[in-house]
Formats: sequence, structure tokens, C-alpha cells
Amino acid sequence: MEQFRLAIIGTGVMGSGHIQFLSEAKFCRITALCDTDPEKLKPHEHLKDCAFFTSDDEFFAHSDLYDGVLIATPHYDHVPLAVRAVELGKHIVVEKPIAVQKSEAQRLIDTMKKHPEVKGAAMFCLRQIEAHKKIKHLIDSGELGELRRINWIITNWFRTQFYYDSGAWRASWRGEGGGALLNQCPHQLDLMQWFFGMPSKVTAHMSFGKYHDIEVEDDVTAFLEYPNGATGVFITSTGEAPGTNRLEVAGEKGKLVYEDGKIRFTRNEVEMSEYSRTSTSKYSGPPVWNVEIPAASANPHMHRDITENLINAVQKGEKLISDVSEGINGLELSNAMLLSQLKGRTVELPIDSALFDRHLEKLIATSRYRKAAAVSGTNTDLKSSFSK
Ligand SMILES: NC(=O)c1ccc[n+]([C@@H]2O[C@H](COP(=O)([O-])OP(=O)(O)OC[C@H]3O[C@@H](n4cnc5c(N)ncnc54)[C@H](O)[C@@H]3O)[C@@H](O)[C@H]2O)c1
Repeated sequence: MEQFRLAIIGTGVMGSGHIQFLSEAKFCRITALCDTDPEKLKPHEHLKDCAFFTSDDEFFAHSDLYDGVLIATPHYDHVPLAVRAVELGKHIVVEKPIAVQKSEAQRLIDTMKKHPEVKGAAMFCLRQIEAHKKIKHLIDSGELGELRRINWIITNWFRTQFYYDSGAWRASWRGEGGGALLNQCPHQLDLMQWFFGMPSKVTAHMSFGKYHDIEVEDDVTAFLEYPNGATGVFITSTGEAPGTNRLEVAGEKGKLVYEDGKIRFTRNEVEMSEYSRTSTSKYSGPPVWNVEIPAASANPHMHRDITENLINAVQKGEKLISDVSEGINGLELSNAMLLSQLKGRTVELPIDSALFDRHLEKLIATSRYRKAAAVSGTNTDLKSSFSK
């Protein structure tokens, strides 16, 4: 089988990470790199048989050099670049979030439908963590019973002002289009929809630049209502240290807590509603079993896995771990939360994406971001981003 020829567009922090993860891979070779900033290409000039581009037009004019494109630019460019690649018949891996607005994600999905031969993956690499797969399995297999309540406190996305100043586009409405929900939390919002499906209503409160000199949200509390009556609370912040990553799921058959990399499952011997109906006791709950569920909470190969899976999907028909079209769901959650804050009311899903776009346009009009020179950072170690 021919080795898959991969191009990467955007060779900043994440693009460079992908180059590192893939440079020794047997399943592909990197044959083209593109970054509009020539300085960002320099560290990769040693790559053999690789073409370098500083303009997107030049890059796409040489599409004979690659079979697929991994897109790791700032978010607003994801869909415009992905659409160009798909229209040229190139397979795509799109970094998270796949877009800033639901309407743009829909545009990519519509383009993909016109090119059924093209495969697309979204870089939702946290789906490749064993503990997350185990939680999904526990829910899908009915082990937890019908879900009643979900709580996710994910406040260990701490970021410094230095981080925000390290890229001029970051944390501005015009350059990035959102904050904690759009940059750090797309992983958890994707897992939320992967585990629990979509809520029917969202009510959110958030603060813009509460802990940092930024335009966008760095503190969010959202209340989610699911079609079966289950409720959820999703809390995130980039200004809290030490932060928390605690997922608690209560179902009819018990309670699951995922924290500190461990899954603990307290299983009810009798479903809670049935116990409540039939018990003659006033205060006790159903008898329980405590179950410790072993599962790794980290996977150093998770990014590479998603790219390898895309290539296996193309070459061997493997099922995609994270089809790009699924990226619209987590995005819809974050769009709904922002819309709820801006309108000061509960938002029903699916959201009115034209209404969201109009609100985003207003925020962009207020944005201070004007392509200023970036402060060059020193710590671009991605591992510390996922260390907790
Ligand atoms: N999956 C993950 O775990 C993960 C982690 C970090 C970042 N990301 C995502 O990766 C993307 C990039 O983030 P980053 O931290 O690497 O940003 P970055 O600023 O370090 O890098 C972005 C690069 O894209 C280049 N660029 C901008 N517009 C371009 C264009 N039109 N064509 C070619 N190059 C262009 C910039 O010059 C820059 O070098 C974001 O969408 C972010 O959400 C994903």
C-alpha cells in the first residue's frame, strides 16, 4: 500500500506537535507544510522531501504533492481551508474546534456531502483516552441506567496572561471568536455530547475577561436540560488554580465519579426510582456496591491516533473515531452557552445559527484585535496542557 502523503497547514504550537508526533510514523510521510509566518516553518526545514509554502494559494496550487491535509491554524480559518481541501478531493483532519460558528461547521458538512469520496476527521483526541472510552461504554451499555444528573467541573484549564499574549489572535472576538469554551473546552464539550447526547435547553452565565486582560469568556457556568428530564451543570474557567476536573454522573442504577484519573462507580442494587416507590424505609437509599474501574487517564499517542485512524479509514475502510461532521455538536453547545449569556435567557437547541452569527458580528465589531505582533512564548510544551 502506498504511504499516505500528508500536508500540514499551520505550524505553530499544535502544528509543530503534529509534525513531531508523525515524523517517525510508518503510516504516512509529511510532504508539504504551509504557514503564513515563514519563521514558523524554519524549525521544520530539516524535513526531507517536504515542500514549504507561506501562502495558502500556493499551497493549494500544489495539491498534487499530498493526499490529505491536517489543518492546525487559528479556528476561523479551519472551515475556509478545509472546504478548499475537500473541493480538491483531499482528505482532512481538522483541529478543534472545527469552526467558530455552527453555520460554518454546517458549510463544511454540506461540502463533505458533495464529495463522498473524501474522509474527514476532527482532532477530538480525548476520545482516545481509555477512561473516557470506559465511561462511554458504561453509559451506552446501560450500566448506569437512565441518566438523571450530570456535573462536570473542568476548571483545570488554567492559563496565564502570558499565554494569552503569546498569539495576537488569541482571546479576541475577531481573532479567535471565543475563549475557554472555544479554545480549551471543545474537548470536554465533545465528550459531553459523545457520552450524553445533546440537551434540549441551555442556560449559561459567563464573564468576559474576569481573570485576564482578554475580550472573551474565561469563566462559565451552564445549566443543561436533557429531553428525558435529566439535568447537567458544566463549569469551566481558565483563571482558577488549582483547578478541578471532576465528572459526576447519576443514573438510576448508580453514580459514577471520574476525578484524579480514577473512575469510581457506586452501583445501586435496585434502581433508585423503584426503591423509592417500593421501600418501607423512610431515609435509607438502595444498598450499593463500590466498584473501582481501572482505565488509563492519559494517552501520549492520542493526537497521532486520530490522524492514523483517518488514514486507515481512507486506505482500509476503518471506522472513523471522530468524524469531522460530529464536530458540530460540541460547537452547538458552546454557541448556545454564549447566546444564552448574550440574550440573558434560556436557549433552545438546535440554536438559531443566523441569530448567533448576528451576535458574533456585533462582538467582532467591538474587538481590539488588529493583527499586532505576537509576544514570543517560551513554554510551548503541549504535554503541560493535558497533564492534569
Ligand atoms: N487538539 C489539541 O489538543 C489542540 C491543542 C492546542 C491547539 N489546538 C488547536 O490548534 C489550532 C492552532 O492553535 P496553536 O496553539 O497551534 O496556535 P498558533 O498560533 O501557535 O499556531 C497557528 C499557526 O497558524 C498559522 N496561520 C494562521 N493563519 C494561517 C493560514 N491561513 N494559513 C497557514 N498558516 C496560518 C500562524 O502563523 C501560526 O503559526 C487552534 O485551532 C487550536 O484550538 C488543538
